[in-house]
Amino acid sequence: MFWIVYNNPIELWGAHSYREPYVYIPSGIGGPLLVANDPKLIRHILVEKAKSFKLAKTRQIVLRPILQDGLLTAENPVWKRSRKAMAPVFTPKHIHGFADAMRRVTEDYVTKYENQGIQHDLAKDMTELTFNVLAETLFSNEIEGDPKEFEHKIERLFETVGRVDPLDIVNVPEWVPRPKHFTGRGILKYFRKLVRTTIEDRAEKIAKGETPPDDFLTLLLRAEGPDGLSRAEIEDNVITFIGAGHETTARALGWTLYLLAKAPHERAKVEEEAKRITAEYSNPLDWVERMPYTRAAFEEAMRLYPPAPVISREALEDIEWEDTIIKKGSQCLVMPWTLHRHQVYWDQPNAFMPSRFLPENRGKIDRYQYLPFGAGPRVCIGQSFAIQEAIIILGIMLSRFRFDMVDSDKEPWPVQKLTTQPDGGLNMTATPL
Ligand code: HEM
Repeated sequence: MFWIVYNNPIELWGAHSYREPYVYIPSGIGGPLLVANDPKLIRHILVEKAKSFKLAKTRQIVLRPILQDGLLTAENPVWKRSRKAMAPVFTPKHIHGFADAMRRVTEDYVTKYENQGIQHDLAKDMTELTFNVLAETLFSNEIEGDPKEFEHKIERLFETVGRVDPLDIVNVPEWVPRPKHFTGRGILKYFRKLVRTTIEDRAEKIAKGETPPDDFLTLLLRAEGPDGLSRAEIEDNVITFIGAGHETTARALGWTLYLLAKAPHERAKVEEEAKRITAEYSNPLDWVERMPYTRAAFEEAMRLYPPAPVISREALEDIEWEDTIIKKGSQCLVMPWTLHRHQVYWDQPNAFMPSRFLPENRGKIDRYQYLPFGAGPRVCIGQSFAIQEAIIILGIMLSRFRFDMVDSDKEPWPVQKLTTQPDGGLNMTATPL
C-alpha cells in the first residue's frame, strides 16, 4: 500500500469511493481518515466549518519546506493578512492586463508546430508554455541568471522535495530526516537565492524611481508593508505562484488536447469556434467571453482530470455529520478526483461531454460538486488568471493546428504527483489547419 501511496495515490480509491456520499475510517494507519463526496458535507468542511479545520499534515510536510509562508501553506493570522494583502494583486483589471502577454508568449511558442511530421510531447510542451507565460507575467522575464536553468531547477525542486515520503504517511515525526531532504536541500537553497536576487533588483529599480514593468512582482512589492506582506513573504509567494500557478494549468491544457483528440466531433466544434472568434476579435480578452464551447471543453477536462486531485484538511475538533462524529485529528480529503467521477452526482461520469458546462446547462451542476479550484475562504486565488490563460492558449492553438495522438489506442495513465499527470507524456502530432 505504501508503494501505491508513494507512486500513485489515485489508484488507492476503490469502487465505493465513487459511489458513497462519504467514506470514514475512524482508525486508519495514519489516524482517522474521511473521504468526503457529498456536496453538502464538502460545503460543511470547506465553508461553514472552515475555522474548525487546518491544512492537512501530509500536505504541509511536503509543501511547507518549499513554500514556507506563501499563501498556499500559510495559516492563521499570516494567511489572513496575506490573503487580504494579495486581493488587489488579483483584481480583474490586473488579470486582464496580462492578456496581451499571454497571447504574445503563446504565438511565439506555437511556431514550433509549423514543421509537420514531428511528434511532440504536449504534456511537456504545455508545462514549458505555461512556464513562459508565468515568467513573463510574474517578472517580465527579468529573472536572475539563465531562464532555462531556472525552469529546470523548479522541476527538480518539486520532483524531490515536493513528494510524499512513505514516512510522512505513517506519521513518523517530522524531525526524522527523509531522503528527499538531502537531495532537495541544495536545489532549494540555490533556487531561493535566485528568487531573492530577482526581487532585490526589482525593488532597487523602484527605489531609484525607474518605472517598473506591470507584472506580479511589482504588484507584490506594492503590497509590502506592516499590514501587508513582509519581504520574506513576498519571496515565499513568488515561489508559491511558480509552484501553484503553471503546472496546474499545463496539466489541464494537456488533458484538454488529449480528450479533444479522442473525440473528433467535439474537437471540430472547438476548432470552428476558435477560428471564428480569433479572426473576428483582435483583443484576446474578447475571446474569453466569446468562446463558450472552448471553455466548456477545458472545464470538462478539469472534471475528468482535475489538476489538483486532492484538497486536504485536518479536523481541529470533533465535528458532527449526520449520525457520525468526525473525530478531532481526522484527515479529511475532499477529492475532486472521486467527486468529479461520482456515479450518483454525474450522468455518464466517465464520458467526455463538454456540453455539461455550456451556460444553459451550468445551473444543473451544484457548486460543491465540481471543485477544480476548491471553495470557501481558501479557494484558488489564481482562478481567473488560469481560465483566461487557458482560453487564450487554446484559442491560438486550436484555430491554427489539429492535434492528434500518435498512438490513438494508448490511454495515458493518470498519475498523482502534486498534480494529475499523464504517465509517459502525451505524444501528439500537430497539423496546420
Ligand atoms: C488550472 C489551474 C489551477 C488549478 C486547478 C488550481 C487549483 C487550486 C486549488 C484546488 C486550490 C485550493 C487548495 C485548498 O483549498 O487547499 C488552490 C489554491 C491556490 N492557488 Fe490555484 N490552481 C490553479 C491555478 C493557479 C494560478 C495560476 C495561481 C497563481 C498565479 C494559483 C495560486 C494559488 C494560491 C496562491 C492558492 C492558495 C490560496 C489560499 O490558500 O488562500 N493557482 N488552487
